[in-house]
Amino acid sequence: MKHNPLQLLLWVSIGSFLFLLTWCESDDSYSASYAHDIEPIFSTRCIPCHLSENGNSGNLNLSSYTSLMAGSSNNGPVVVPGDADNSLLYEAVSKPSEEQSILTTRMPQGGEPLSPVSIQLIEDWINEGAKDN
Ligand code: HEC
Repeated sequence: MKHNPLQLLLWVSIGSFLFLLTWCESDDSYSASYAHDIEPIFSTRCIPCHLSENGNSGNLNLSSYTSLMAGSSNNGPVVVPGDADNSLLYEAVSKPSEEQSILTTRMPQGGEPLSPVSIQLIEDWINEGAKDN
């Protein structure tokens, strides 16, 4: 069978279009990003207790993705990627003080709770794999 160059061009175009389509979709499947959503919450609401040069409450330093995921705070890893319900980070900000299993109080300690939108972002980010995205 002889291929018409125009026909070939058409198939190549359809192929690239489908590729772009799936590429865009997979990009959209994350509803929360560490850099855009999570880090700004930490740097506005968790200072000065967890972003200090001279010691951090509960030994948890929230100044970078690496330090958040280091797992070296008092109760070990605070994020279980893909499982917000078993992540101390999510529990700390979402449950009232009296329902905290390990901590003494809800975070931010002594401050207003995070907004429902921020709490949702933290939950989604953890459930989407807690990526450095
Ligand atoms: C006013 C100070 C203060 C602020 C602000 C604060 N924390 Fe804390 N945080 C603490 C203290 C103190 C502890 C240790 C409490 C304990 O062990 O009961 C702690 C412990 C934690 C832990 C548990 C670490 C571990 O392994 O035991 C997490 C998670 C946490 N904080 C998250 C946050 C987040 C997220 C924010 C911001 C939304 C925040 N905290 C804001 C003081 C603070």
